[in-house]
Amino acid sequence: MAKKTATAISHPNIALIKYWGNLDHGFRIPANSSLSMTLGGLETRTTVSFDPDLDRDEFELDDHKAEPLAFDRVVSHLDKIRAIAGIQIRASVQSHNSFPAGTGIASSASGFSALTIAACAAANLSLPPKQLSIIARQGSGSAARSILGGFVELYSGPTSDDSYAVQVAPPEHWDLLDLIAVISSTHKEKGSSYGHDIAHTSPLQAARVEDTPRRMDVCRSAILEGDFPALAQIVELDSNMMHAVMQTSTPPLIYLDPASIDLMKKIEIWRHEGLQVCYTLDAGPNVHCICTRSSAPEVLNRLREITQVLHIYESKPGEGAVLR
Ligand code: DP6
Repeated sequence: MAKKTATAISHPNIALIKYWGNLDHGFRIPANSSLSMTLGGLETRTTVSFDPDLDRDEFELDDHKAEPLAFDRVVSHLDKIRAIAGIQIRASVQSHNSFPAGTGIASSASGFSALTIAACAAANLSLPPKQLSIIARQGSGSAARSILGGFVELYSGPTSDDSYAVQVAPPEHWDLLDLIAVISSTHKEKGSSYGHDIAHTSPLQAARVEDTPRRMDVCRSAILEGDFPALAQIVELDSNMMHAVMQTSTPPLIYLDPASIDLMKKIEIWRHEGLQVCYTLDAGPNVHCICTRSSAPEVLNRLREITQVLHIYESKPGEGAVLR
């Protein structure tokens, strides 16, 4: 095979119903289904070249040679794609994020989604979205959802082939905004992969997983009906349930900062004052403020007045991953 290059763009996503814990760690089969909004405006752009002249894989992230753990994770993902394509050629991978990695804005989701799309194209594999999401999921669970745009559901197992993403509604279905209040932009100490590994040590995890089909139904209906009060209630409940599991794992994982909790309390008050806004937090201290278009200007004004909010990203429902 001659040298072949492909570039893909993918957006991160914010989980409205969270994935936390795995049925199978090797294949990253999630313990529960999840539902997210793909985040337009923020992006990872990844170029993959399979090059017969290379004797080992290369991976640069934001123009720097990747650290060993990230490198190994990318190589094992490339190995999966090489095995499917029946090739052994090494690759060079260049990836750029338009937002800081490791801060609760899921860079692994857009990263492994873009890597999957670019590497499959560069390996001459033409696969349907279902297969692409199954492959992306094995790089990072939440990456399966970033393959698709708008509002996206990821099925849990039981097997790897059953755990893929489907679109619940396209981006234009609901003009929601995610105003991401960045409270810290330092790299988190314990990443999600570690948290998934120890989720089962929390006595609350089994109850959270068992209740997931109900929360998924409520969230999916709220989206399809455009019912903001119902969405707000289930999204905050789900985020708080995941953080309760994190905090009661052994060892405990506390991702929330005092400023995160202050903002969560403020958002609840703002909603009682009539603003259509709710909060959700991933494995980091940053607060994703999900709001309607009509409430967004006032939410933005209020966020700008909070000194602990270092930066605000504005994101609307985005498209799925594409080749460029
Ligand atoms: C809290 O997909 O980042 O953001 O598969 O280990 O890469 P890995 O985990 P990841 O986990 C996401 C956890 C979460 C919730 C979610 O996005 O569903």
